[in-house]
Amino acid sequence: MLDKKVSELLNQQINKELYSAYLYLDFSNYFEGRGLNGFANWYYIQAQEERDHAMLIYRYLQNNNETVTLEAIAKPDKVLESDMGVLKAGLEHEQYVTSLINDIYAAAYDVKDFRTMQFLDWFVKEQGEEETNANDMISKMELFGSDPKGLYMLNSELAGRVYSAPSLVL
Ligand code: FEO
Repeated sequence: MLDKKVSELLNQQINKELYSAYLYLDFSNYFEGRGLNGFANWYYIQAQEERDHAMLIYRYLQNNNETVTLEAIAKPDKVLESDMGVLKAGLEHEQYVTSLINDIYAAAYDVKDFRTMQFLDWFVKEQGEEETNANDMISKMELFGSDPKGLYMLNSELAGRVYSAPSLVL
């Protein structure tokens, strides 16, 4: 049995990760509408990764004999008005998710739940990578995005992103 608060926070995190998937699908949809299929591809794959994150937590709870409670997924709430605005909304969202993971880690630490802390280590590292990726996207857009040729090249680069399953196996 996990601690009640830890279990509840993990349950909520499933919902947050599925929301993240939904949000990035919305980003992908925005870029499809702009004709920037590379950016659309990048966020489509990001949505797949977020679903994976949710499934890892779902499986972890089940493996620990905890009841999983699935709640409604909120409508994506970011206003998508410009390419750079979308990228910045992505970074802001990842920083928020990092804070959520840290909160769960802190709750596990409080009750000496070392198993959950070890499980969350992967997420702590993943969040570092996700924030770096979001920052890199913004930097590249600042450098090249205002020039049509630069934007074309950046879009082509992002089109090359391929999905790979998470390295964490439960
Ligand atoms: Fe699952 Fe992007 O955090």
